[in-house]
Amino acid sequence: MLDDKGFDLWADGYDRSVGLSDETGTYPFAGYRAVLGEIYRRVLAAPGREVLDIGFGTGTLTAALYAHGCRIFGQDFSPRMIELAREKMPGAVLCQGDFSQGLAEELTRRRYDAIVATYSLHHLTDARKIAFLRELQGLLNAGGCIYVGDVAFATRAELAACARQAGDAWDADEIYFVYDELRPSLLGLRFTPLFPCAGLLELPAREKEPF
Ligand SMILES: C[S@@+](CC[C@H](N)C(=O)[O-])C[C@H]1O[C@@H](n2cnc3c(N)ncnc32)[C@H](O)[C@@H]1O
Repeated sequence: MLDDKGFDLWADGYDRSVGLSDETGTYPFAGYRAVLGEIYRRVLAAPGREVLDIGFGTGTLTAALYAHGCRIFGQDFSPRMIELAREKMPGAVLCQGDFSQGLAEELTRRRYDAIVATYSLHHLTDARKIAFLRELQGLLNAGGCIYVGDVAFATRAELAACARQAGDAWDADEIYFVYDELRPSLLGLRFTPLFPCAGLLELPAREKEPF
């Protein structure tokens, strides 16, 4: 699994290598633009414009939302990724920090209409994913939603089929989302498969208790 230095080294070639994997329809980034496009459309179709991006990388998704007037906040641990994203979004609040240790304090003081995380949370164990997503859910405005786009599957059998097809390319260190297994712990979680190895998970804001 890559650490912050590994992502620093990957940063300048990131968009190209992801684009190639997407264009050739190969794991792990087959469906990448479709996943980002789906989240982009859903965020803009909703009323609010405060967006938090977890592991924003070179800022491909959030720069497009920024261009449409969204206020962008984010956290990433790679200084080079942050530099590249900042060039595209000079007015965004981009914090450096390891999200496995939680969110930067500055980001926890705000509330968001959309929280997006694309191809970043598979670095967390399922237990940490659940705890982190619950924490993020508490930062949503009423009517807001978390959008996770990633290598993701409805069932473990579908994950196994993708692993067989990927062969030696399969990265067994990454902990991909399996909807069936996460759903019982995350009330309201929805899954939309978008490609054989990619999907969108949505977790809406908790409804306020009336009393
Ligand atoms: C595969 S890239 C995805 C980037 C972008 N979201 C996209 O869809 O292209 C993963 C990003 O998450 C960041 N990342 C991974 N683990 C992280 C962690 N524990 N804390 C903060 N950032 C992390 C990396 O630096 C990198 O920018």
